Amino acid sequence: MPDKLPIWLDGEIVPYENATTHMLSHTLHYGLGVFEGIRAYQGKDGRTAVFRLQEHVKRLFDSCKIATIKVPYSEAQISDAIRTLLRNNKLADCYIRPLVWLGEGTIKVAASDNVVRVAIAAWPWGAYLGDEALEQGVRVCVSSYTRIGIRANYEKAKICGQYVNSVLAKREAMANGYHEAILLDQQGFVAEGTGENIFLVRDGVIYTPDRGASLLAGITRESLLDLARDAGIEVREQALTRSELYLADEVFLCGTAAEVTPVREIDGRIVGTGRRGPITERIQKDYFAAVRGENARREGWLAYV
Ligand SMILES: Cc1ncc(COP(=O)(O)O)c(C=O)c1O
Repeated sequence: MPDKLPIWLDGEIVPYENATTHMLSHTLHYGLGVFEGIRAYQGKDGRTAVFRLQEHVKRLFDSCKIATIKVPYSEAQISDAIRTLLRNNKLADCYIRPLVWLGEGTIKVAASDNVVRVAIAAWPWGAYLGDEALEQGVRVCVSSYTRIGIRANYEKAKICGQYVNSVLAKREAMANGYHEAILLDQQGFVAEGTGENIFLVRDGVIYTPDRGASLLAGITRESLLDLARDAGIEVREQALTRSELYLADEVFLCGTAAEVTPVREIDGRIVGTGRRGPITERIQKDYFAAVRGENARREGWLAYV
């Protein structure tokens, strides 16, 4: 639950209680809005840096382009707003949630002239799937829900309404006692988690579904592919099946929220030895080093606050 910290709203920082919208806001009814999920980390030297700020802000604007929403700010203004908010709220390790939505105006479907509103919230947030999960791994199921296909879903955009698919899959998984759900695409290939990309390891090679598939090509995913190559580990982006998940030596999920989370069990089948595997551990270690400014080669991924 976010602490009640001030929020950046339409160009100014306002008290938490004032960051509201009317029930006739268009996005509440039809889901045409866009969001991002970003994290900042404090390094050993005490400085806080936003991880891959530029890429996240770019994706926010790309999502808005796909959604035909004209943002009344530039990418530089939104990046500055994020940094200003973190300084204002004296935040170090935290999660950052920008949201672009259509406010009041007409409630007719097209609503081309409704006011476009932008808010950014940020709060201290621990491990999304729990601290224990980072070491012990999570139990997941293959969902009865299918990842919406690319004819009906803008897979490269974080559009609010598209997340109904994720919310229902996650609720179903939790109701059945799992931590997370893995969605298959319309052809039956592995797509992703409800808010994470998925990797598997087999015979020392790392595999992940191709970025052209029905999945959000996550910024963490791209970062991990780079870190794996830096570590000299072979990576292959290709279509993966459910059986390949079951037979993997290691499986892990990744995303801004979930960071790098090992999977210890899928549909009642133990993954590998049932513990975090050595390649997962290496990638996890390298990821946390990079986000905390301990990887000189990847210093460019950090935007200091
Ligand atoms: C559906 C989905 N897949 C994957 C990801 C991981 O993306 P990223 O690493 O950019 O956070 C997210 C989170 O944004 C997501 O919502």
